[in-house]
Order: sequence, then structure tokens, then C-alpha cells
Amino acid sequence: MTPVLLPLLLAGAEARAERTRFWMPEPASTFASDVDNLYYYIYFLDAFFFVLVVGAMAYFAWRYKARTPDQKTSPVKGNHALELAWSAIPGVFLLSFFWLGFTSFMNMQVPPADSMDVRVTGQKWNWSFEYPEYGIRRGGPEGLVVPAGTPVRLTMTSVDVLHSFYVPDFRVKKDVIPSRYTVLWFEAKKPGEHQVFCTEYCGDDHSRMLSKVTVLEPAKFREWVRDNKAPEGGPSGEQLFASLGCAGCHSIDGSKMVGPTLKGKYGTQEQLTDGSSVDIDDNYLRESILVPGAKVVAGYAPQMPPYEGRLKDDEITALIDYIKTLK
Ligand code: CUA
Repeated sequence: MTPVLLPLLLAGAEARAERTRFWMPEPASTFASDVDNLYYYIYFLDAFFFVLVVGAMAYFAWRYKARTPDQKTSPVKGNHALELAWSAIPGVFLLSFFWLGFTSFMNMQVPPADSMDVRVTGQKWNWSFEYPEYGIRRGGPEGLVVPAGTPVRLTMTSVDVLHSFYVPDFRVKKDVIPSRYTVLWFEAKKPGEHQVFCTEYCGDDHSRMLSKVTVLEPAKFREWVRDNKAPEGGPSGEQLFASLGCAGCHSIDGSKMVGPTLKGKYGTQEQLTDGSSVDIDDNYLRESILVPGAKVVAGYAPQMPPYEGRLKDDEITALIDYIKTLK
């Protein structure tokens, strides 16, 4: 390699390192380092013994190979000291794996009593977040906003199928299951932004069921709460459209997504899967929000989860009023 190329290559590697890390993602929660350290401990111990055992095998094969055709293997009998050693030493390592793993696991399982509560709802294909303390509801790409240095407890459920909430930077992941709650907690160390994935295959747009966690300084977070509290009289139709994840499947600019676009649809007619047609009026929109499978537009699969029992009457009206404005 010429001396000119080397600094160029190093500069390239450095630029890449800023975007991605070769080993683990940034350890952004309080217990991320415990998880990583246990991983590295097991990994490098394994690597050490792998080299030792395979190296010894290769050496012995060479050192003790039969040099003349009549050389016999020496008779080998038991060796208690040796047998005890190769059971006891790995046994001690195994106990240390268990102890470190168990203590970190218990720490990750039990949220501190003073945790901030957020309710998480998974549905095809959106994460929505509710702050019961502040009356804030958010969803879609807006994501979760939390203060740094504060434990946050997520109580999660799904309205349709199995999903899984995964934040690699925090080293937390837990299944989100219909008809029951699962709990996950973390404490973010400093302000920043972290990717959220769904890690259980949940249908067509599983790979796009993304969100993010934004960590703010506690003072900034209090400001954010003040600015985002639900307005008097409840959230607007546009806010509901975003927080319920409607935008994940319905465009407002005319483009085709998993569901039909809502642009310019109000007051028109639509062909249904059974060949009949329907007027897009308030009643049709209401029915399609509550029981989407009742009248499915031709060319689309009945994929939308029902919102029956999840929306108040004035919220349904607000959504319909918003859809009317999409011209
Ligand atoms: Cu939700 Cu995959």
C-alpha cells in the first residue's frame, strides 16, 4: 500500500464509524453497559478457550503422531485430578455467567417505583404512546419523548397481532401481545435520538413499523409537556390522524399505500370488493373507522384494525371533519 492511500482509507473508516459502530450500538441506557460487558466477557472467554483447545489439538496431533507403522497408542486410564479440573473450572465460569446474567436480568425486569408511566399500543403498523399523567397521545414517526436520567416504564399491549418493541441503543426488547400487558423500562443517560423497531413479523408493513425515542434534558422535557398537552376539548382531527397511526396506511396526497388515499375522497363514490358501490359520506367514514372490514374498497385487503371501543364519539367526528378537509 502506498503511503498516500493509507490516510485516505483511515479517513474513510472514520467517516463510516461516525454513522455505524463496528461492535454494539451506542450504549444509551443505564443498563446497556452491563449487557455489553456480559456479552464481551462470554465472547472473549470463548475466543480464548477456542484458540487454546483447537491449538492444543493441532499440536498434539503433530507431536504424538505415529512415526513408524508399528507404533501403538499408549494405554490411557482415568485421571481424577484432570477430570475434576475440566469439570470444576468451566463450572465456575458457568456460575459467573449465571450470576451476572441473572442480576442484570432482574434489574431489567423490575422498574423503579418512581418511574414515569407511558402506555404503548402496537397495531398494524404503528406505535402509539399515551402519557396518562399529562393527557398526551402521540404516534407514528413522531415517536416517544422522554426526559434523560429518569426511569420510564412502558406498559404495552397490542390491538391486533403480536408485535415486539425494540430499542437497540437501550438494549431493551419485549413482545407486545394482544389482550394482555407487558412491561419494559429503561433510563436514558443523555439527550439524543434512538431508533425503535418492531421485531415480530406482523404483516405487509412490518419492516416499516418504525418509531423513535427522543431523549430531552429534564427542563426541555417539561417545556415539551407544556407545549404538547391535549388542548381543551380534546385533540384535533389532524392530531388524531397522526397519533393513531392512520398516516401509516392512508396518504393525504393521493398516493397509493396499504390503504386507499383519503385525498379528495369525501363526497365521491367508491367501488367495493363485492362489486357494489358506496357513497363516501359521514356514515361510511364512521363505519369504516369502527368496523373497517364491513365495506372494503376494491383492490385493497381487509387489513385495517377496528377502532370500535377505542375512540370517543367526538374523536370520530373530529377525524371525519379532518378527512373532509383533504381536497
Ligand atoms: Cu409490528 Cu412487526
